[in-house]
Amino acid sequence: HAAGTGTLADPLADIGVIGGSGFYSFLDDVTEVTVETPYGSPSDSLFVGEIAGRKVAFLPRHGRGHHLPPARINYRANLWALRSVGVRQVLAPCAVGGLREEYGPGTLLVPDQLVDRTKSRVQTYYDGEALADGSVPQVVHMSFADPYCPAGRRTAVTAARGQNWEPVDGGTLVVIEGPRFSTRAESRWHAAQGWSIVGMTGHPEAVLARELALCYTSIALVTDLDAGAETGEGVSHEEVLRVFAENIGRLRPVLFDAVAALPETGKRDCLCASALDGMDTGITLP
Ligand code: ADE
Repeated sequence: HAAGTGTLADPLADIGVIGGSGFYSFLDDVTEVTVETPYGSPSDSLFVGEIAGRKVAFLPRHGRGHHLPPARINYRANLWALRSVGVRQVLAPCAVGGLREEYGPGTLLVPDQLVDRTKSRVQTYYDGEALADGSVPQVVHMSFADPYCPAGRRTAVTAARGQNWEPVDGGTLVVIEGPRFSTRAESRWHAAQGWSIVGMTGHPEAVLARELALCYTSIALVTDLDAGAETGEGVSHEEVLRVFAENIGRLRPVLFDAVAALPETGKRDCLCASALDGMDTGITLP
């Protein structure tokens, strides 16, 4: 690692925030930490700071200036980098499209399920490829029935309510490959399945977090109605960024309150924390 990563007893950070489209900085007073991983470089430096005594590492998912499209994000490096500085719980705000008329722009939704419609992304660390230190990841099949951290979800929902922003508590995020938006037929099909929102980056982020025994909570801000739920021209990237920018001022305090209320690292009692218990992964996690 290029920079000191702290020790387990004194980590640089214990909570990670991965900022999506339109979300490139989180804290004002930060230390920039550059981290390299066995999987290459993360999207950007980590920006480490404090909220209510909790140490937080912020990572802009698309890189500063938004230069990485969803399929080119190095999700493995991003989560490994966060874990290597001590992070054990991740909050992942993201911009999504609404698949139902009632989930219009400005809706906040904390999904409890996910459907993976991506096509080209590596979604495991346990692929048998030797790491530089010679260790070889073994075959691991993660339980993923409930992809999100229940404690993180509760914390996020409570934090939003505390800021008078009633969130939709639960729902299914379908993650498409992108970078294009869905056709109207695809969008109608997604809605007909009963899925709630559509995005491009929620996966494989969620499963890679689970593979590292990290708690992961997606906090989705609807920036647009997806093509099947509206009658206009369809979504534009400009619209996504604009609506995200309009809402960032009220999303930030929700995230601050959620960070402050997350359990201490040593007090996690969710399924995520024990995801690797008893498994022979063949590699040493950072
Ligand atoms: N991100 C924001 N809006 C989206 C949409 N309609 N489809 C996919 N990803 C999105």
